[in-house]
Amino acid sequence: MKLTEGTTVEFSLNSRSITYRGDPELPLLSYLREHCDLISAKDGCAPQAACGCCVVQINAKGVLACVTPMRKLDGAQVLTVEGLGEYRQGVFANAFVNEGGVQCGFCIPGFVMQANALIGRNPSPSQGEIERAVTPNLCRCTGYKKIVNAIACAARAIQNEDDIPPKETLGYIGMDHPKYDAHALVLGQHQYTDDIKLDGMLHGALKFSDHPRARVLGIDVTAARDLPGVVRVVTADDVPGNRYLGLIRQDWPLMIDTGELTRYIGDVLAGVVAESEDVARKAVKKIKVEYEVLTPITDPHVAMTVNCPTVHPDSLSNVLSHSETSRGDATKAEADSDYLSTGNYQTQHVEHGYMEPECAVAYPSNAGLEVMSQGQGVYEDRKQIARMIGWPEHKVRVIMISNGGAFGGKEDLSVQGHAALMAHLVHAPVKVRLNRAESITMHPKRHPIWMAFKAGCDADGKLTFIKAKFVGDTGAYASVGMKVLERCAGHATGAYHVPVVDIESVAVYTNNIPSGAMRGFGVNQATFGLESCIDDLCVQGGFDRWQFRYDNALTNGGMTSTGQVIEGGAGVRKTLLAVKDQFYQNEFAGLACGIKNTGIGNGMPEMSRVRITIASPDQVIIDHGWTEMGQGVHTMALQALCNETGLDPQTVEVRVDTDCDQYAGMTTASRATSLMCNAIIDAARSLKNDLNTQSLDELVGCEYEGEWKVDWTSKPGDQSGNSITHYSYSYATQLVVLDKSGQMSKVVAAHDAGKIFNPTLFEGQLEGSIHMGLGYAVSEDLPMENGRPKSTMLRKCGILRARDMPEIEVIGIEVPDPYGPYGAKGVGEIGLVPTAGAVANALFQFDGIRRRTLPMRLP
Ligand code: FES
Repeated sequence: MKLTEGTTVEFSLNSRSITYRGDPELPLLSYLREHCDLISAKDGCAPQAACGCCVVQINAKGVLACVTPMRKLDGAQVLTVEGLGEYRQGVFANAFVNEGGVQCGFCIPGFVMQANALIGRNPSPSQGEIERAVTPNLCRCTGYKKIVNAIACAARAIQNEDDIPPKETLGYIGMDHPKYDAHALVLGQHQYTDDIKLDGMLHGALKFSDHPRARVLGIDVTAARDLPGVVRVVTADDVPGNRYLGLIRQDWPLMIDTGELTRYIGDVLAGVVAESEDVARKAVKKIKVEYEVLTPITDPHVAMTVNCPTVHPDSLSNVLSHSETSRGDATKAEADSDYLSTGNYQTQHVEHGYMEPECAVAYPSNAGLEVMSQGQGVYEDRKQIARMIGWPEHKVRVIMISNGGAFGGKEDLSVQGHAALMAHLVHAPVKVRLNRAESITMHPKRHPIWMAFKAGCDADGKLTFIKAKFVGDTGAYASVGMKVLERCAGHATGAYHVPVVDIESVAVYTNNIPSGAMRGFGVNQATFGLESCIDDLCVQGGFDRWQFRYDNALTNGGMTSTGQVIEGGAGVRKTLLAVKDQFYQNEFAGLACGIKNTGIGNGMPEMSRVRITIASPDQVIIDHGWTEMGQGVHTMALQALCNETGLDPQTVEVRVDTDCDQYAGMTTASRATSLMCNAIIDAARSLKNDLNTQSLDELVGCEYEGEWKVDWTSKPGDQSGNSITHYSYSYATQLVVLDKSGQMSKVVAAHDAGKIFNPTLFEGQLEGSIHMGLGYAVSEDLPMENGRPKSTMLRKCGILRARDMPEIEVIGIEVPDPYGPYGAKGVGEIGLVPTAGAVANALFQFDGIRRRTLPMRLP
């Protein structure tokens, strides 16, 4: 039956009878979120039908609400997480929390409803049946293992009509304390930025460039401005302060002005503020832009040639950064080596694929502006927004809204700037959010890096030298591209001691989508090349692959790529020992080691401040400056405080807000837990003393400040012989096992975390990283053609689904770090540093083919 506007649809929603009269094509997701204020179903990709974050139950089936029009609901029974009832809500919440099946949480309500439908038709599903049932659902954080366990646990409880008791601990370091705020995340009741509604809130939409490289000759906004419901159209002329923004180099205009060149397809030319998002988007389509279209520069090797036009007209060349590290005589070392491995390697653009697309809400305040941000650094957001408005920073307040995944992709300012500008201009709250296609188009990706490696060893299998050249396509804007290539070079010798190095690293501007931070930050690329060379040397010299790695592994006193002497905490040999038996037991086994910096280092001071406030005997607030993006930084804060003071974890609340003035930089470089917990230990000293003599009642109103600072790392190129590139490193070995048909059957991941704060969250971080690393190895790609992504569909990005995942065994190792809190090292990124190398080496064992380009396709 084709319904028309005004036709009635009768259905039941969470056991309430609904009579709907309205647009029959309205997606159910919009109806739930906008008309019913039911926020558990999330919009991760509407209307692409790729992620499953919006799954609700219709009759007995899990269904994607984003592609279900209202007309299809006649007579249906619709169920969302809000309507599950107290018993099932409790079962699912405790199952997911206890099993560690929730990280950022954005995907979880969709999994819950898919699981509820599955349990309805199959009360006792097997692991395989669960994995098949959740095929429509993507999760970018967990690697699915703990989600599948949680669903099995919930099914058992429901079948037996049992409750699942909540996990409770003292919250000390080393305990499996439940993730902070996790019940609300599982039940979809945590308010992500897009769940926030304010009185009188308007909506913004952005006009993106139609060409990656073109001169903008004119922007005609007349038709857009005249559309009923449009409040204002904004262009570059409306920016009161400095339009050019950026974390390190300010080369990225909030909007491109008439007369300027576009640099990529995600450049913003104008924005519309309207009474609804629908009207704002319709108005954007009416903006007419006149261009002089130019040929885009898309190959970084071409971009480096002398006569190539520059992406940024004021620059003399397209080289963003260039760095060199050398130690010893590489020419002699090469001549003296018994075996040489030489090869060029190429990696790909990769989409972060966080389930929550970009969204920000901004509104005027007495002081100036307040911005609700999902970004990875509220203080960096504040600095850039203030610069753009032309205000001192204190007039801008940025409140961190725990986000639905980031993985580095939310370091650069995105829609926070546009929402702030619009709210400032129209004197009203404004929300700006991107749909999935816009998100893929706009935010920076993982760097494609071309790598030329040459590695040598002697007759005993000791590494003699490494020469490497890296050329990274950094795309249209600097973002943190210079740091990614610096980190790539700084990890070129991996987790090994190599006496002689000659390494060059170049980041090159092109008109492709910018490349920036992504989990692993250049180290994954270098490790893929290096670990392939290591296996190649082993083949040539007939060396045992495990023993070769063990013999060359970094030990205390050994040297990193940059010449830093490791003074303590080198754990790579212990990780190798942990996988040794399984390595020898499997025929098609690929091995790779990894090292990853904790902290930015390279001479950049980094610090964390925290404040502990005794608000009441039942409420102790930790203010810090780091972004919770699923990795568990709030839980780490809570556990450090409870460990130091013995406070009841139920009383602890965590807050991130620039008005609280607890500075931290960008949540990056696996450093938040390390820096923040050292600051908490500092703040807790006085609190502990006071608690010896006074009760919490007596301390109400007291505040305790703490700080931890690292301002003693060395700048790149330091030749003092005592260089300290980073204050801490973590180490790993991963083993990838293939079955007889060449498919991945198991990953064994041995990781040295220094001190494991929370075993379940630790495993979850690694399982999620390995999922991302396996995707990087075999399926993920975002190919571009003439500066445009070939597809902006999430399902084309190659993210692995639950049924694609092999078994994962995580082995935790604790070799204490000299500077980490309780000896801890970062774990956020290293989980995918060795993965692609291990897969490549396993595939070589399977078919003898050395693969040098990512993604590698499985046989
Ligand atoms: Fe699944 Fe974050 S927990 S996307």
